[in-house]
Amino acid sequence: MKVMVVGSGGREHALAWKLAQSPKVQVVYVAPGNGGTALDKRLQNVPVTDPQELADFAQREGVYYTVVGPEAPLAAGIVDLFRARGLRIFGPTRAAAQLESSKDFAKAFMHRHGIPTAAYQTFSDAGEAHAYLDAQGAPIVIKADGLAAGKGVVVATTLEEAHAAVDMMLGDNKLGDAGARVVIEEFLEGEEASFIVMVEGGHVLALATSQDHKRLQDGDAGPNTGGMGAYSPAPVVTPALHARVLREIIVPTVRGMEKDGIPFTGFLYAGLMIDKDGNPRTLEFNCRMGDPETQPIMARLKTDLFDVMESAVTGKLDQVVLDWDRRTALGVVIAAHGYPDAPRKGDTITGIPADTEDSVTFHAGTTLADGTLLTTGGRVLCVVGLADTVKAAQRTAYAAVSQIRFDGMQYRTDIGYRAIRH
Ligand SMILES: Nc1ncnc2c1ncn2[C@@H]1O[C@H](COP(=O)(O)OP(=O)(O)O)[C@@H](O)[C@H]1O
Ligand SMILES: [Mg+2]
Repeated sequence: MKVMVVGSGGREHALAWKLAQSPKVQVVYVAPGNGGTALDKRLQNVPVTDPQELADFAQREGVYYTVVGPEAPLAAGIVDLFRARGLRIFGPTRAAAQLESSKDFAKAFMHRHGIPTAAYQTFSDAGEAHAYLDAQGAPIVIKADGLAAGKGVVVATTLEEAHAAVDMMLGDNKLGDAGARVVIEEFLEGEEASFIVMVEGGHVLALATSQDHKRLQDGDAGPNTGGMGAYSPAPVVTPALHARVLREIIVPTVRGMEKDGIPFTGFLYAGLMIDKDGNPRTLEFNCRMGDPETQPIMARLKTDLFDVMESAVTGKLDQVVLDWDRRTALGVVIAAHGYPDAPRKGDTITGIPADTEDSVTFHAGTTLADGTLLTTGGRVLCVVGLADTVKAAQRTAYAAVSQIRFDGMQYRTDIGYRAIRH
């Protein structure tokens, strides 16, 4: 069978890598892919990003199904387009993808259906937003309504920062349409976790738990990024909490979308804040898998991913049982010079170790040019180590990281520190 993965990041490399392990898969097309997917003989890059052209390609090549990695094509309606042409695809429709593409939509949805989340109000008028901030005080959180590639949220510890965030979004229009409306919400304290499930036909299949590291520097200092590392499982999500998140957040979300007439299909990712008493609240929804969470999660998945996705696109997700490697997988992201503000491109990458039973390197911002691997900016690689304990997985991952070289490489040295503390 031929299958296709849409996207070019570490998440897509990990999904394609796992799909290619299936004996039923002849080729995995990755559109457009990266340097790592170009190097893997079982994967084939397709230099196409336009949804209509992707559908043409899938039709022409007889692609059995397509899996969408990133949010942008989902929010643009790639699923609606493929379905209208009778092509199998796993992901939410454009309407259902609003759970991620509009934070105001998601907050109103959660309030309507009694799903635990921070208190909030939405504004398009700067004056009203400023007045609300003064009434609420700091700390407080300001979020652009639309997709902003991880740059749309300001966690303000002072009122000055909060007012500046509103000015940036509503006044100076720095985020364009995405920031034309802002959600201002209550600051929540606690520990974050990523809770990702597959949804289809009202059925829910939970993936392994994980935790991301959003800040650039050790000890969660520095600016927010797309994610500097992740590990799975996340010990903060105990079995009791797992059951509670399904009951109080995931199932009401899936049922709520059905009731609202926009049933959700695809990966559903709830970003959770777990307070010191162990109560989960929803920070946000994503309508796709997380990056870098996908990399350690795929490294632990033992079940044939081709079969899992086939069940999902043919209405049999309720028959799937997932089998996980019992070890911890821990992924360290190596980012480019200047990331996240102004990532540099074109640095030569050397020393990536060959994958082994207990370590694998997924590519993101890389390209293969005449046999040389070059950075193409942002997050460049995610190196995953697997071992029986978090500490040992950390050692394995960093041993591989230490062999890799490119000018200006940046990575955190403490990925997994929270799990080690637990
Ligand atoms: N209400 C909140 N209280 C405290 N921190 C928050 C809150 N909402 C978001 N954050 C922090 O900001 C980060 C980004 O917010 P999120 O809603 O996940 O938006 P996005 O991923 O689209 O940038 C979160 O991972 C979390 O660290
Ligand atoms: Mg988030």
